[in-house]
Amino acid sequence: MRTPVIAGNWKMYKTAREAGETIRLLCDLVADVSGVEIVVCPPFTALPAAVEAARGSRVAVGAQDCHWEKAGAFTGEVAVPMIAELGASHVIVGHSERRQYFGETDATVDKKVEAVLAAGLCPIACVGETLKEREAGQTLAVLERQVRDGLARHLGTRALVVAYEPVWAIGTGKTATPAQAQEVHAFLRKLTAKLAGQPVADGLRILYGGSVKPDTISALMAEPDVDGGLVGGASLDAASFAKICFCARAQKQ
Ligand code: PGA
Repeated sequence: MRTPVIAGNWKMYKTAREAGETIRLLCDLVADVSGVEIVVCPPFTALPAAVEAARGSRVAVGAQDCHWEKAGAFTGEVAVPMIAELGASHVIVGHSERRQYFGETDATVDKKVEAVLAAGLCPIACVGETLKEREAGQTLAVLERQVRDGLARHLGTRALVVAYEPVWAIGTGKTATPAQAQEVHAFLRKLTAKLAGQPVADGLRILYGGSVKPDTISALMAEPDVDGGLVGGASLDAASFAKICFCARAQKQ
């Protein structure tokens, strides 16, 4: 049995004060949701307020990115030990917006995942194809490259969580159909089995991300290889994110 994970990616939204308020509301709403790991990933500046607001609750806090070095002359960057010291437990790595706008590559994903694991935190590593790649029939080839070059060395580490996020579904309101998600998730699990063995593949949590909403999560989670969601827009509102957490639990019980 894989414990589902519902992670909220707040992107560049919410000040520290707003983050604290939303998380306090969320903690109350999900107080009874057992059997689902719930993670909220606010901007770096809101991490201390988020950790404080989530203390003693079911909600874990994560960062949205990190640098792969422990320290150094990298203006504007944030190292994993700095994130860990604040009490965050997860780090999103390789989000398509980082790949698209900030030069993230499979090679930097590999180094960042290593750094997150070395600090004892859980990476949520994102993979996914663009619309152009899907239309060209390259979806599985792109994903295979992203996994082989960015994640293969780390697949055996239980802390690793993978998120399949088709780029064309992010922030567009176009969720992948449950069948489309399942096809890719099953492929990723099979590839993991090939690279790291069946027991690793059986234990790997693979989340779906891309316009997940309270009314789409149940059908996605009903698929056998979908183990949770990475939620952007719908995670900004405590009530809608809590609803997604409830639906996720209901589906996998
Ligand atoms: P979305 O974002 O839910 O707003 O599509 C998902 C993500 O980027 O992780």
